[in-house]
Amino acid sequence: MRQRAQFMLTHAITADPAYEFASEVKLGLTRRGQKELPSKYLYDDVGSALFEVISVLPEYGLTRADERLLQRHADEIVDMISGPVAVAELGSGSGKKTRWILQGLCRRQHTPYFPIEISRTALVMCERELGDIESMSIVGFEREYLDGLVEVAARRRPGQHLLVLFLGSTIGNFDRPAAVNFLQQMRGILEAGDWLLLGTDLEKSIPQLITAYDDPLGVTAAFNLNLLARINRELDANFELEQFEHVSKYNPTARSVEMHLRSRRAQTVDIPRSGASVDFAEGETIWTESSHKFTTDEIFWIARKAGFRCRRQWVDHEWPFAENLLLAE
Ligand SMILES: C[S@@+](CC[C@H](N)C(=O)[O-])C[C@H]1O[C@@H](n2cnc3c(N)ncnc32)[C@H](O)[C@@H]1O
Repeated sequence: MRQRAQFMLTHAITADPAYEFASEVKLGLTRRGQKELPSKYLYDDVGSALFEVISVLPEYGLTRADERLLQRHADEIVDMISGPVAVAELGSGSGKKTRWILQGLCRRQHTPYFPIEISRTALVMCERELGDIESMSIVGFEREYLDGLVEVAARRRPGQHLLVLFLGSTIGNFDRPAAVNFLQQMRGILEAGDWLLLGTDLEKSIPQLITAYDDPLGVTAAFNLNLLARINRELDANFELEQFEHVSKYNPTARSVEMHLRSRRAQTVDIPRSGASVDFAEGETIWTESSHKFTTDEIFWIARKAGFRCRRQWVDHEWPFAENLLLAE
């Protein structure tokens, strides 16, 4: 019988997310040295919608590579994961690419799917995108990654393994030590025999990387500038958006593409709900996101350090990208 997926939103753990946003904005913009804002705040309603557009831009081959690998190898991936599983996806976004894995699992058995997202808009898109898959139930968690995973792990049934999906190279938003630390924390929530399917974008030419994060249409610029617009909307700030420009640059030491917002002139911005007034020098930047790039070999090493073993790796050569199936040991 065709089973319509059920969707239940639960609420964020944070007692007051607006307070947390206000204090993190103040902390990041008033620190000494490089000003910084956490990349998770790029994803409000507008940001999540703009990210969907980025994912289909010709210059941003990452999402298509990830999807090609998932589509081509879904059966192999599903065959390697035996027994009953529940699927948790960290930062699912719209969940479009996840369909291939879920359909494979659902052909075998009824599968519970738990997208974990900081963005409610993304959770709603995910339900629309995947809600028609037969033999699947969906419960979305509006949570930070690991808080959500703790809740999903608490729901596991006896004998059921967890398959965690962390796709789209979102792991690249962490610097390398933080990525290892994050995976170690994840491993602490999982049990031996659980699985992690990890998407990782690989190193490629610098011009190709720069353009991927600074497309000629200006969608990525809008995605980045929306963070300032969000601070205006939610914290009553007075950022003049035309006085900031989007910058994407390659950091060869970190092997990452960094997104910044550069002040076009000396200016002061008031953020009343953060209780802050921030001075910008001409040319000064706010660092908003990093996307670290990997080699295929280092994934094996990172997995080991975090308590996983990389059992299989599939590589897309059109846009170098690796899908890695890790087993919790
Ligand atoms: C780069 S997008 C990737 C989306 C999708 N997985 C894909 O591959 O296209 C990152 C997603 O993670 C979510 N996200 C970012 N930081 C988060 C956090 N700390 N906890 C939960 N979700 C987060 C964002 O809302 C966004 O939808």
